[in-house]
Amino acid sequence: MVKADGLAAGKGVIVATDVAEAETAVRDMLEGNKFGSSGSRVLIEDCLIGEETSILVVVSGRDYLILPTSQDHKRIGEGDTGPNTGGMGTYSPADVVTPELLSEIESKIVRPSVEGIADEGIDFRGTLFIGIMLTAEGPSVLEYNTRFGDPETQVVLPRLGCDVLELLWRASQGNLAGFDLQVQPTHAMCVVIAAQGYPESYPKGDAITLPNPLPTGVSVIQAGTATNAAGQLVTAGGRVLGVTAMGDTLVAAAASAYAVCDQIECSSKVFRRDIGARQLNRA
Ligand code: GLY
Repeated sequence: MVKADGLAAGKGVIVATDVAEAETAVRDMLEGNKFGSSGSRVLIEDCLIGEETSILVVVSGRDYLILPTSQDHKRIGEGDTGPNTGGMGTYSPADVVTPELLSEIESKIVRPSVEGIADEGIDFRGTLFIGIMLTAEGPSVLEYNTRFGDPETQVVLPRLGCDVLELLWRASQGNLAGFDLQVQPTHAMCVVIAAQGYPESYPKGDAITLPNPLPTGVSVIQAGTATNAAGQLVTAGGRVLGVTAMGDTLVAAAASAYAVCDQIECSSKVFRRDIGARQLNRA
């Protein structure tokens, strides 16, 4: 794995399959200036094989609450092919994270991380997003972010049966202990509509028409969008929209999300049709 050490909007990770690819990735960053100053220092890490899960934790000092599990799909192409992106789709819950596995993740990763931050004298109040690879040898940390995930948040927050603002407010006030985190027994899926060419170069300014009204249980969250001079919604970024659907099952959530993805009109739209496939194929 070759990583740009600085921020690269989730795109600075190259999964090299052999030494030549790794060398090209390093040269692109150090000599080709591919990620600008973010790539002026590179990290070379083991390539971890397994399924990924995103663990979002609301932290307030030494108190924390683990939010519902989710799984992102980082590669641009179906079957997890092509370059990494900021995330092309998510679903929640990620059943691959069994209660036993979550308990291991909490004891080996979440709690030591929260304690470690506090032990360094940091009164951290916010969201810790831990990207974890579930390898054959056990869960292994890929990355930490002190922010929510995109598009993880789109599937995690709607499943909460408690007041999200109160949760975050209490965390910010150092008053998280005793908060009753309620999670609804629903399933959520978010399919990202990207602009053709993302994560490399892509067009901007393509007109977008959304179905109106949206079906119950489906929301379209705008990301890389703008309004042009004529007042038309247009593309303005690589990841353009997040189509999020709720359902009693993941199958139902997927059917609702994809029905809306198909109805959205935009000449440069692309999206993966296999979000959640691993879990759906296990069912
Ligand atoms: N979806 C991955 C991230 O937010 O970093």
